[in-house]
Amino acid sequence: MHFIENRMFDRYIINDINSKLINLYKVIRDAPAELIDGINSLKIKYIEADEFHREKQFYTIREAFNGECDEVTQAVYMVFLNKTCFNGLYRENSEGKFNVPFGRYKNPNFIDEEQLIELSSLLNIKDETGDFKVKIMNTHFCELKDYIDDNSFIYCDPPYRPVTMGGFNSYDKSGFNDESQIELSKFYRVADAKGARIMLSNSDPKVFDPNDDFFENLYQDFNIKRVRAKRTINSDGRGRGEVEELLITNY
Ligand SMILES: C[S@@+](CC[C@H](N)C(=O)[O-])C[C@H]1O[C@@H](n2cnc3c(N)ncnc32)[C@H](O)[C@@H]1O
Repeated sequence: MHFIENRMFDRYIINDINSKLINLYKVIRDAPAELIDGINSLKIKYIEADEFHREKQFYTIREAFNGECDEVTQAVYMVFLNKTCFNGLYRENSEGKFNVPFGRYKNPNFIDEEQLIELSSLLNIKDETGDFKVKIMNTHFCELKDYIDDNSFIYCDPPYRPVTMGGFNSYDKSGFNDESQIELSKFYRVADAKGARIMLSNSDPKVFDPNDDFFENLYQDFNIKRVRAKRTINSDGRGRGEVEELLITNY
């Protein structure tokens, strides 16, 4: 949002392989009022219900989300599930079905309407040819190579490498394992060779195993900074709250 607000680039790309997440971005752009109305009606029902009926509502919506629904409904359900599921995780099973359990929050913070409308208007900015300045894509990161040149800035926010046994890294049905991290590091090198500036965030394996040099080996020619970040998404309590993370840059 900061980059678009300050008109720092002529064109932008938002990309993710998760088609439901990308649908949400498109609905924020194209139908923010319907999205807000849909979320608010689910929210009212949720707030007024007792614990038993909240849980029932959650599982009914989860099942509907995993079935056939139109774009706006799917986006409404995605936000509702994200706000009411366990730890705000997004995880799919091998069949591509969202399978995170109910979260038991007393007073979940559903949406910031003003921020959503602001984001929507930024996503609607068009260039002189009438195309959106922000292209919203749904593909594997490898497919983005042709869009990169020496004026590009790229931020990669990949699934974090799990730092614990059973750590969470399955954002979509394909999973994202160490081989995927290696593939991403090759993409990073291609972007670097094209002259782009590139920043990548990831978990810091050294928090749990000081001898784990996985990222030091993968990104040995680049700058690796350790930063403190707030995290609630981790199946192991030690990975929650303020944790050390990596910021890897080529500049
Ligand atoms: C830490 S999350 C980032 C979420 C994102 N920044 C957002 O808007 O919420 C990691 C993301 O990487 C995506 N991902 C996994 N494999 C990918 C791939 N091969 N190409 C592109 N995106 C991928 C997942 O779908 C997931 O949404």
